[in-house]
Amino acid sequence: METIKAHGGQLIDRLADSKERENWREKLGSLPKIQLNSREISDLDMIAVGAFSPLEGFMDSADYRSVVNRMRLDSGLPWTIPVTLAVTEEEASSLKNGQDVALVDSSDTAIAILHLTDIYDYDKEKEAELVYGTKDSAHPGVKYLNDCGDRLLGGKITMLERPSHAEFSEYRLDPSESRKLFQKLGWKRVVGFQTRNPVHRAHEYIQKCALEIVDGLFLHPLVGETKKDDIPADVRMSCYEALIENYYPKDRIVLGVLPAAMRYAGPREAIFHAIVRKNYGCTHFIVGRDHAGVGDYYGSFDAHYIFDEFDKGELDITPLFFDYAFHCKECGGMASYKTCPHGSESHISLSGTKVREMLRAGQAPPKEFSRPEVARILIDAMKGVDE
Ligand code: ADX
Repeated sequence: METIKAHGGQLIDRLADSKERENWREKLGSLPKIQLNSREISDLDMIAVGAFSPLEGFMDSADYRSVVNRMRLDSGLPWTIPVTLAVTEEEASSLKNGQDVALVDSSDTAIAILHLTDIYDYDKEKEAELVYGTKDSAHPGVKYLNDCGDRLLGGKITMLERPSHAEFSEYRLDPSESRKLFQKLGWKRVVGFQTRNPVHRAHEYIQKCALEIVDGLFLHPLVGETKKDDIPADVRMSCYEALIENYYPKDRIVLGVLPAAMRYAGPREAIFHAIVRKNYGCTHFIVGRDHAGVGDYYGSFDAHYIFDEFDKGELDITPLFFDYAFHCKECGGMASYKTCPHGSESHISLSGTKVREMLRAGQAPPKEFSRPEVARILIDAMKGVDE
């Protein structure tokens, strides 16, 4: 049984083997160095293991401009989010195309080599507007962009040392591993689920609706960098463990973690999330209400509409779109605006702010909104957390 092809046809592998690593280690002393931040380190890791296939490194100017302007790599392949390495003018002026550059972490350990082929300028305002749909620096993606250096470095990478994967070690699955696992399980159709929030009943409902029509569900919470007021990944993972233990058929679920950073780019990030899950071996991908959204920057279903801008064969992963889901007292169960004829007075749906308020006060949200096992974990986690 074949698994779905990676984006662009081949799963990329930019991890150095032990011999290559040794060779590079000998040369490190003579290479220029650039220190990476945590988003860049996670991007590097994603590139190295093929989660960002077909990217083999940080984007050069041709790919970057093409992605910003027309949501495609220079080759024409769909890609919606820039994956770039920013440096200051000063750092850039000390480098030359054709050089190998040591990429180091905050403790000065060389974790990868950048085979530098392009040093270029970019227009942050344009990127903000086209990728995030706003220039507002209150948007976390735009804020990150504004804080970045003014020049970009492009080129393939060779990964020497992967970031520490001690946390969530039992849920670490690289794309090559998840692909093998789905094959072993005999799953031809696998639906991927992206999330950065604690799981609630609406999530469970859309996951289970999707599972009705495929062979298996790949629960794939993002555990890379998120904004400060998002619930920490370890708490979210405990919620998933409790949920799976009590409410999910274990032979139909694989729980894995996505160590990528959240961009909050709404619709463009929905396409990106789908492509990445295809690289992990998913054939289907769930896109619900305000996917990867933040504040009021995007319309609730903009992340659905954007899929119309690509031919089905181009993305080669089937999006499963879900309307706003909630519990309806009249229907006596979970439903959505698509399936429920009753008014909002019958619906149990709470805002994130309201839920946080309740949890902080030690109060569990109604069981129609959150499973009690999940609410308990969240209440415990909230203890001692300031407003
Ligand atoms: S996201 O930033 O990762 O998209 P979140 O973890 O809240 O945030 O959402 C995970 C997925 O569930 C997304 O596809 C989102 O659109 C969907 N979703 C979240 N809440 C609802 C809801 N009430 N109804 C329908 N879809 C939802």
